[in-house]
Amino acid sequence: MTVEVALEARNLYKIFGKNPQDVVRRLEAGESRSDVADAGTAAVIDASFTVNKGEIFVIMGLSGSGKSTIIRMLNGLNPPTEGDVVVQGNSIGEASPKELREIRQRHVSMVFQHFALLPHLSVLDNAAYGLEIQGVGKEERRARAQEILEKVGLGDRSSAMPHELSGGMQQRVGLARALTAGTDIMLMDEAFSALDPLIRREMQEQLITLQQELGRTIVFITHDLNEAMFLGDRIAVMRDGRIVQNGTPEEILTDPANDYVAQFVQDVDRARVLTAASVMEQPTAVSTLHAGVRGALKVMRDRQASSVSIVENLKFVGAVTDRSVIRAVKEGRTDLRSLIENVQPTVHPDDPLTEVVDRSVESHVPVAVVDSTDRLVGVIPRVTLLAALGNVAPETRSIPIVDTVPAASAQELDLTLAAVGGGEAAVPAEAATEGGV
Ligand SMILES: Nc1ncnc2c1ncn2[C@@H]1O[C@H](COP(=O)(O)OP(=O)(O)O)[C@@H](O)[C@H]1O
Ligand SMILES: [Mg+2]
Repeated sequence: MTVEVALEARNLYKIFGKNPQDVVRRLEAGESRSDVADAGTAAVIDASFTVNKGEIFVIMGLSGSGKSTIIRMLNGLNPPTEGDVVVQGNSIGEASPKELREIRQRHVSMVFQHFALLPHLSVLDNAAYGLEIQGVGKEERRARAQEILEKVGLGDRSSAMPHELSGGMQQRVGLARALTAGTDIMLMDEAFSALDPLIRREMQEQLITLQQELGRTIVFITHDLNEAMFLGDRIAVMRDGRIVQNGTPEEILTDPANDYVAQFVQDVDRARVLTAASVMEQPTAVSTLHAGVRGALKVMRDRQASSVSIVENLKFVGAVTDRSVIRAVKEGRTDLRSLIENVQPTVHPDDPLTEVVDRSVESHVPVAVVDSTDRLVGVIPRVTLLAALGNVAPETRSIPIVDTVPAASAQELDLTLAAVGGGEAAVPAEAATEGGV
């Protein structure tokens, strides 16, 4: 798949002050925002990034970090002090005022935190307004607006006037206007920040659905990390005018570039963002089907594990627990295949931790991570899961622990091993996953 660039910011600076170029030189020489405060406000300092077609690119940072200034440079509302913005191959810096208007009408639309609807126009005409500016005829623009209003759940309110709608609904009309305008790129500045949390979550979900359906490119600004993590394919973190990290939500969570980002990510709902692959451990309590009961017992004893994952021809088969094996041997059953229970839940490497939590609740053995070819690529013991979730906010649901069956003692295992004639011949765990990890 080739990645097409929709938008590019190249070494953008925006200085508010008397001698902005001067300030840029000082910043280039290594001075900070506060160093140059005497000469002006360095709202944006040397910001570079590319936004790929069809992605949601989030710019996140505290209030005053320069987010709005960046977004206003992206659509040419604010000329950069230095640097350039390239929209679908066209340099904004080199565009004439006419070309700029054209870019804003056809290619880039904006949604703000408090989206100003035109009070004397109906919901339908407000949603159609972007098309009106583009010169699209009344009938067509109304038909297209109606279609989008349906999508944002306002199909039955199209003849209402703005003041008859709640704040959340008005914001949806704003979103509908931007979507109806049909621009490939949408810039959204704190577009959901004024909404109450439930509606906000709903809008976030709707935005993702619409974005997938309509294939738009979205630059979304927020000061809320959870929102950033939920929406962003990639996130640029801003601090004091600079982009301090740019990466996927997972990269930012697991490998924060500095203390500032780390502090930001401390209270995010990690379970929704982290994947099984990012926390899984190398499977060590692994045996093969052909190593039989003896092999399984030996691995459990050597690894001090109360369960063992069974693989065959590099494919995950299931798991057995120490208890079930001991019981079976006592009863004279020694065919490992018949002992394999559905005790080990599986997840895929890309599954979010929320999924792993759900599986983990059902079971007292580690969750197995199995790839698309059924190969066992990792395990997630409950302690690992809890450690990974360590920073979850208190309101995040707690993990109920199922009653764990006490593990068998080493002595019990040895006795059972002796009963099945166990020696040193068992297959080492490495052989079981050989070439597999
Ligand atoms: N027109 C302006 N004139 C002077 N200073 C400005 C102007 N716009 C923004 N600033 C300053 O630039 C900095 C970044 O502002 P802004 O981009 O609005 O941040 P954010 O959107 O992240 O809250 C702030 O210190 C703000 O006060
Ligand atoms: Mg702002």
